[in-house]
Amino acid sequence: MASKKRNNHVRIINLGKIRDKRGNLSVVEGSTLPFKIARTYWIYDVPGGKDRGGHAYHCSHEVIIALSGSFEVYVNDGIREQTIRLEQCDKALYIPAGTWRHLCKFATNSTALVIASTPYSPRDYIRNFDHFIELKREKKL
Ligand code: TYD
Repeated sequence: MASKKRNNHVRIINLGKIRDKRGNLSVVEGSTLPFKIARTYWIYDVPGGKDRGGHAYHCSHEVIIALSGSFEVYVNDGIREQTIRLEQCDKALYIPAGTWRHLCKFATNSTALVIASTPYSPRDYIRNFDHFIELKREKKL
């Protein structure tokens, strides 16, 4: 349990790459991620330089992979903030529940694959940053 808690932070998961002259291959299976997969979606056709997804989730954990192109992910856990650039499709960014995240600076023709631990629920979203910080301060998130 203690080690599970220590692992509950934003981090890059190396998916590995099966190299092949015909083209490389990377895999995500259930055991790759620190949560059970419930949903997969992808974000694409984002105009170059534009942003998506400024919000946090109450319950959903997720990983984000830049399947093509590149973009940045701003994350804030209420104490620490960082911006991570994703541009390799063998790297998954793990974002635990209760983390503010914002996808920004999409390069034209990028695709962000998101794998989440819960089915879609609008009630899981926290869309106001000040409210997010307040919930964190009050330890309700
Ligand atoms: P949303 O997560 O709000 O995207 P962003 O924060 O980048 O603006 O999703 C945009 C729309 O897509 C919203 O109307 C809800 C819908 N949606 C689903 O129906 N299912 C999903 O799994 C997701 C992620 C979004």
